[in-house]
Amino acid sequence: FACKKASCCSSRVNKKIRLGEGKVADTVDVEDIGEKKAFCRCWKSEKWPYCDGTHGKHNKETGDNLGPLIVKKKE
Ligand code: FES
Repeated sequence: FACKKASCCSSRVNKKIRLGEGKVADTVDVEDIGEKKAFCRCWKSEKWPYCDGTHGKHNKETGDNLGPLIVKKKE
C-alpha cells in the first residue's frame, strides 16, 4: 500500500491531543480500568487516552491498520 494523501504523510503524528504540551503522557490507575479498557494508539480519539473507535475511520480513509491497546484482567 502506498499513501495517497499528503495530509496523512506529515511527520507530526499527534494533530489534536493537548497540542500545547511538550509531551503528552497519561497515568491511569489499574484499579480504575475495571475488567477491560481500550487505549487509543491512533491519536485521534475524542475520549483520549481511551479508544472511541475513530481509528476505524482513519484506517478506511488511508488504508492504515491502526488499533487500540486493550488492557484486561486475566481470565
Ligand atoms: Fe485511536 Fe481507537 S480511536 S485507537
